[in-house]
Amino acid sequence: MTKYVRQDPEMTRRKFINAAMGTTVGIGGLSLLSIVGGVKPANTLTPEKTLPAKGDVLVYADPAKNNAPVALADIKEGQVVFAFPKGKVNGTDVVKSGIARNQLIIAKFPEAQLKAPTDIKGTDQGIVVYSRQCMHLGCAVEVKAYPSKGLKEAAVCPCHGGVYDMTQGGRVADGPPPAGLPQLPIKVVGGQVVVQDFFQSLPYDITEAEFETQKKELEKA
Ligand code: FES
Repeated sequence: MTKYVRQDPEMTRRKFINAAMGTTVGIGGLSLLSIVGGVKPANTLTPEKTLPAKGDVLVYADPAKNNAPVALADIKEGQVVFAFPKGKVNGTDVVKSGIARNQLIIAKFPEAQLKAPTDIKGTDQGIVVYSRQCMHLGCAVEVKAYPSKGLKEAAVCPCHGGVYDMTQGGRVADGPPPAGLPQLPIKVVGGQVVVQDFFQSLPYDITEAEFETQKKELEKA
């Protein structure tokens, strides 16, 4: 059986962002270590790495779009938009692009195609959002057809062939990922895609304890 070596999370993150965006996203800003005591130094929490939270607006990941909110007209069936959440952290607007798990896939399907375990309340007009980071070893998934599983539009990982069904809550349809892509609940508000809740399952490269601690602190903010 093939064995996979877990990569250094910081290297994975940098590779992910470089590959996904063709550029390096700066990591800086205020330290929020008070809310994640005990994290490894490589994962030091900065505003750009905080979890997407309720009220964040999704903005284009494409640097050419200058962090503009994703336009509804660009979210079409058969296409996807890559995005980051943008919201207030410590009172300042931040594009949370500093960690791979926060890059998001915005996809749109006919509403009737969205099935359990999709959090249907976390979708709007057939729009569904997932983390783009593969749950196996953290690569950036691409979106394409996967005919052998009957999927016209699947999230497919280029590293070891993980496949996720975005019409069924991001469940694993093929390959080695141990868990599905985390869905991020959204709603369309005033023509923008707005986050309604935290990821519905544990994303890549964060422990359950860190995830729960961050969520609690963000809820208090
Ligand atoms: S990183 Fe291995 S399948 Fe995605």
